[in-house]
Amino acid sequence: MAHNLLKGKKGIIFGALDEKSIAWRTALRCYEEGAQLVLTNAPVALRMGEINKLAEAVKAPVVGADVTNMDDLKKLFEESMKHFGGGVDFILHSIGMSLNVRKGKHYTEIDYGFNQKTLDISAMSLHRVLRTAWEMDAINEWGSVVALTYIAAQRVFPDYNEMADAKALLESVCRSFGYHYAVRKKVRVNTVSQSPTRTTAGSGVKGFDGFINYAEKMSPLGNATADQCADYCVTLFSDLTRMVTMQNLFHDGGFSNTGISHAVIEQMEK
Ligand SMILES: NC(=O)c1ccc[n+]([C@@H]2O[C@H](COP(=O)([O-])OP(=O)(O)OC[C@H]3O[C@@H](n4cnc5c(N)ncnc54)[C@H](O)[C@@H]3O)[C@@H](O)[C@H]2O)c1
Repeated sequence: MAHNLLKGKKGIIFGALDEKSIAWRTALRCYEEGAQLVLTNAPVALRMGEINKLAEAVKAPVVGADVTNMDDLKKLFEESMKHFGGGVDFILHSIGMSLNVRKGKHYTEIDYGFNQKTLDISAMSLHRVLRTAWEMDAINEWGSVVALTYIAAQRVFPDYNEMADAKALLESVCRSFGYHYAVRKKVRVNTVSQSPTRTTAGSGVKGFDGFINYAEKMSPLGNATADQCADYCVTLFSDLTRMVTMQNLFHDGGFSNTGISHAVIEQMEK
């Protein structure tokens, strides 16, 4: 059900790879709520061609940008501002990639070269995006930036590997840059800590099936889906949440505050 919550707003969505992607689901919801969009992803991801289906559905141009490349980001904001005829009201950062996980390296044996790339793609990219927007004055007053994260930033999930460190850094960048952007232009920056979700990035985590089933049993409301995450992002992009900034917001059906659930106790007693 649409409420026109984003009527007249303009946003950039990073990270829609395929229809399971949280960014894909969020783009559809933002469009339904009246937003105008620009879609972006790494050139290598665009070559899959999937994103063109989304672009058609939400009537948005697609601009390629590797999020670790400042020239690409500058071009993305230039093209977006040209398309919108002005600044941007919201940005979704929905990007994650671990080279060490991909190469099957255990956390105790990570390759530091890969690790630098992981931190750059998955965490410092938020700084790069915000800095580019800051220098170009590309985000309108009361704009809203959301980046997606995971509770492995606070607690140990052993197979989440170096991505746990990346998420901790991402959440810190959200707070630090969020401070400066709020003071300068009332722009808010938050992270949303989402339940495990079956997507390409999510399924890359070792033992994902056990992981997602455990979270389902440990969450009083169950796991939050990608579509529910999209709904939550819409509220954060809307004017109804103007005073929320520099927060890590759990969107996890209660998982983060649950010590043990009856469903897990029952399982352990078997
Ligand atoms: N799926 C989960 O279980 C889960 C849970 C919590 C948080 N998250 C987070 O949600 C976000 C979105 O992931 P998803 O689950 O939708 O998976 P996904 O694989 O669909 O999305 C990840 C995206 O990152 C993009 N990307 C990778 N390298 C890039 C680069 N150099 N430049 C630009 N884009 C690049 C990919 O192309 C892809 O579109 C990630 O930050 C992820 O960590 C996912």
